[in-house]
Amino acid sequence: MDRLQFTNLPTPINFFDHYDSNNIYIKRDDLTDFSLGGNKARKLEYFMADALNNNHDCIVTYGGHQSNHNRITAAAASKYRLKIVLILSKAEDINKNGNYFLYSLYDAEIVWTDIDKVPHTIDSTLSDLEQRGYNPYFIQGGGHGNLGTHAYRVAYEEIIKQEINKNIKYDYIFLASGTGTTQAGLEVGVMENSSHTNIMGISVARNKIRGTDVIYESLKEYCEFQNIEMKISKKDIWFDDSYVGQGYADIYSEITDTIKYVAKKSAIILDPVYTGKAFHGMLTTINKENIRNKNILFIHTGGIPLIFTHAEAFERKLE
Ligand SMILES: Cc1ncc(COP(=O)(O)O)c(C=O)c1O
Repeated sequence: MDRLQFTNLPTPINFFDHYDSNNIYIKRDDLTDFSLGGNKARKLEYFMADALNNNHDCIVTYGGHQSNHNRITAAAASKYRLKIVLILSKAEDINKNGNYFLYSLYDAEIVWTDIDKVPHTIDSTLSDLEQRGYNPYFIQGGGHGNLGTHAYRVAYEEIIKQEINKNIKYDYIFLASGTGTTQAGLEVGVMENSSHTNIMGISVARNKIRGTDVIYESLKEYCEFQNIEMKISKKDIWFDDSYVGQGYADIYSEITDTIKYVAKKSAIILDPVYTGKAFHGMLTTINKENIRNKNILFIHTGGIPLIFTHAEAFERKLE
């Protein structure tokens, strides 16, 4: 599959700490090194190659006004001198810092949409761009789709190489799961390598049924696309919605406590919307599931700007 290369790979794996007799490691995908890094950068290498191969001159994508995916997509479009249009869902409070601020560095054109009109706004934006003479390429929110799944199948191969180099087998891989595309890619990697590693998705928003269904559909679609045998059933997918709280970007005190704990222990910065929630979910799962004497890898999927966007709520929780 064609790919551009603008990330700095392989990302390192740091030993974090011993925790209840387990060894915890962190894979630093926050250091993919493209517009402040994160999992979306790996996915974008494939989407951008596809867009350029098919002579597109404009990238369109969709997300919230503080979307990491939007930031990295805008950066990638800008680097390859393509126009970038971001369709953002309207919100009551628009925080203009963080990712939103970074969109402007890349001269992104912004189109606002009501949340219930997203498909309509996507269609009208694409036809408007065509009328203006562009050949737009649409990337689903969060870098969802086969190319995004593929990026994390390949990332899993990177992890296997690192396992061999360090002579460590990871029994569990934990990560923040949103659209579930990153998780789906890792699941394919495990399936194809007949690994015994358990992929543990901690939901940042979706409920268990919907999240599991979407991951399952992504897997099926990807296996058809690649013509490989689908050997995973829904019950094999671990997608835990216990840490969502009141919903996406609900920041409760266990999350801020966890972020502080990780920062003080390792100097690694997590964010409160994705990785902080997932790290908290991982530590709680270790206790709940009585996981002992295992090697556990946490994938730090990025999201650095969000710690600044949410600094105020964060301070309140730390008081
Ligand atoms: C920092 C971060 N972590 C995790 C995710 C979830 O990735 P996915 O949508 O592939 O599940 C996202 C998606 O927005 C993200 O920005």
